[in-house]
Amino acid sequence: MNWEAKFSSDAGAIKASEIRELLKVLADPGIMSFAGGIPDPALFPMLQAGRIAENLAAEPDRDCQAMQYSQTEGYPPLRHWIAEHHSTPCVTLGTENILVTNGAQQSLMLLASALINGGQTIAVAEPTYLGALQVFGTRRARYMPIETDRDGLVMESLESACKNGARLLYTIPDYQNPGGFSLSEDRRRRVVELAHRYDVTVLEDAAYRSLYYDAPPPPSLLELEGEYLGPGQWDDRGRIIQLGTVSKTLMPGLRVGWTIAPRILLERLVLLKQASDLHTATYNQILAHELARDILDRHVGTLRQVYGQRRDSMVSALQQYLPDGVDFTEPEGGMFVWLTLPTGMDAKPLLEKALAEEKLAFVPGAAFHANGGGENTLRLSFATCSAEDITDGMKRLSALIRREYLAIAA
Ligand SMILES: Cc1ncc(COP(=O)(O)O)c(C=O)c1O
Repeated sequence: MNWEAKFSSDAGAIKASEIRELLKVLADPGIMSFAGGIPDPALFPMLQAGRIAENLAAEPDRDCQAMQYSQTEGYPPLRHWIAEHHSTPCVTLGTENILVTNGAQQSLMLLASALINGGQTIAVAEPTYLGALQVFGTRRARYMPIETDRDGLVMESLESACKNGARLLYTIPDYQNPGGFSLSEDRRRRVVELAHRYDVTVLEDAAYRSLYYDAPPPPSLLELEGEYLGPGQWDDRGRIIQLGTVSKTLMPGLRVGWTIAPRILLERLVLLKQASDLHTATYNQILAHELARDILDRHVGTLRQVYGQRRDSMVSALQQYLPDGVDFTEPEGGMFVWLTLPTGMDAKPLLEKALAEEKLAFVPGAAFHANGGGENTLRLSFATCSAEDITDGMKRLSALIRREYLAIAA
């Protein structure tokens, strides 16, 4: 059967994620992986999740409710919790602003279906989250990549994209995947102004927002838009949509995320979700709600401590061992450090050597570039290896980069 010929033009256009392909190689336990953007499973709150499951089993009515169909919008106590915890001084959220989704990834898919017409041009950071590019790819989006520096999106580049017709911006203001950088507060205010001046809808992906290791991040775009508009205005006049998830703070396997949006848009997203999967698993929403209510703050405190130490050991090993000419970000949160190799070096063949000679993995950065380029960049995750392994791995990776650099220069 020639299935290729049967695929719809949209399905035919979808490309496999390089990261997912790479993760298959990582099944080899001998490989020290700095590749996956995944949390450390040793830190999952399994005991507490088990206790919640036991309590549910002891209450047959609630247990059956957990296994029953439920409303598309999401489990009401979870929606309440999200609304309460994401309201800002000028944006008072109600449950009608919250849709629970199968992870932030489904929020992206629903928003793309609701807001992106086939072939529409959207603005994305250079580099940006690959999973978002995959979603926008299903709408055959065209991209206006926005330059970035250590303070996130460069405003001149963003304004030029707005002037040239971009009407949707996807951005990760906090500890960006893959770049590790965050948008400064001044620039956040400017993004809000530009969005209003040029009629741009902004998808604010807040997946890593609570994983900060130094000071807390600047106010979210949602909060700043509330200030910009004044109290009580956002539901009618807001254009910042925020996406959240428990994947990075609790457990990604729960597949619980959410979209925060003005009511009218949210109603449309609910219809799209209903058509897609009726609702997010009720059981998982109950687990996510009770974990969030009972232990999230304490648990995130532990994550900050453990990931913060791992971040420190990656940054200090890179400072110590990398050869001159290699640039890297020093993230204040999240999971990623972004390396820029000297021009002329290519991270893909470097990965092949790293796997073969050092049994080390990372993700070459080109895949995170919407319109190509970035061959000399790569992403390192510090979330899953111990501080000692990180020091050892960075030492060996730095030595490999040095050898390759000298070979090219010779
Ligand atoms: C920036 C960003 N947004 C969204 C997601 C998807 O998160 P979820 O597991 O909630 O679907 C990820 C996952 O890596 C991510 O890095």
